[in-house]
Amino acid sequence: MTGTTEKKVILSGIQPTNKLTLGNYLGAIKQWVRIQNDYDAYFMAVDQHAITARQDPAQLRKNTLFSVACYIAAGIDPERCVLFIQSQVHQHSQLAWTLNCFGYMGELSRMIQFKEKSAKSGSNIPVGLFTYPLLMAADILLYDTALVPVGDDQTQHVELTRDIAERMNGIYGPDTFVIPKAHIPKVAARVMDLLTPTSKMSKSAVNENGSIFISDSAADIERKFKRATTDSETVIAFDTENKPGVSNLLSIQSAITSESLEEVIARYEGKQYGHLKLETAQIVIKELIPIQQRAQELVDEKTELNRILKMGAERASEHAERTIKRIHERIGYVVI
Ligand code: TYM
Repeated sequence: MTGTTEKKVILSGIQPTNKLTLGNYLGAIKQWVRIQNDYDAYFMAVDQHAITARQDPAQLRKNTLFSVACYIAAGIDPERCVLFIQSQVHQHSQLAWTLNCFGYMGELSRMIQFKEKSAKSGSNIPVGLFTYPLLMAADILLYDTALVPVGDDQTQHVELTRDIAERMNGIYGPDTFVIPKAHIPKVAARVMDLLTPTSKMSKSAVNENGSIFISDSAADIERKFKRATTDSETVIAFDTENKPGVSNLLSIQSAITSESLEEVIARYEGKQYGHLKLETAQIVIKELIPIQQRAQELVDEKTELNRILKMGAERASEHAERTIKRIHERIGYVVI
């Protein structure tokens, strides 16, 4: 039932709301690149998730194309991986409806992301914000996914996906769905806001100076790191409880250079916070600037990106359709 391939499937996606952040890059894209060759890999821009908050149409389209261009520029191989845009594969919303009938109000109400985002939505909370985890479950289950490489804020959604898959396997047979697992990076699973290092770095932060965007200029990156909140001590040590700002900078460096935290800390013996901030900025600039330049070239050139996305949507649809047929048969829909 797991298709025709031998390798296990990994799948992940990012919402193309606003511009992608350093958190998206380190928590997700960079680890996708690292493990893409060991799996059958599916990576997508989840534009249908993005519309749970109001989007400007032209901006959404632009952000979606730029985000998939960033995946490629960061090292995702579009020939080997299946790279696509969620809304181009209709089976996602098709399976999401079925899962809507198996997810429970109680479990969806417990989702942290729903609680946080609905609190910001005023009195008109879109239903899609509530059922969003079921669309994410559909994304994952459609491809018989074994591993879902994400930052740690998505663990709860992957757990819910597992619960629903197990529930349906209990009803329709143990091989109805593959049960997926989250795959969380060892460092930078939660990149923190530079100004408020007790909160996650986010695409939609109120103050953009706390977030580094993949598309930021070198000057902006340097300015934001220079202003990063640290603490009133002078010691450079990793202690997320008491020194969240300094620990965040150390984690960012470690995630980019692949040095251990101890190795990074050792380089700062006898140095000051100013050195740490400036050098972190330089390491980030060196990593992000070539990616943003290549991504922009891909977007400007258009033809190659369109070819990749068309091929990705076709390959994704093929696998997705096999799953839809299997599920529809088990549920009792008429399959012709
Ligand atoms: P989204 O768009 O909020 O974030 C995309 C990915 O980036 C990671 N991430 C972070 N990692 C470390 N530090 C941060 N500050 C940080 N901010 C974001 C997220 O953990 C995620 O891996 N629901 C998902 C998108 C989604 C999805 C899927 C993911 C839809 N369908 C299927 C995996 C599989 C979301 O909102 O991610």
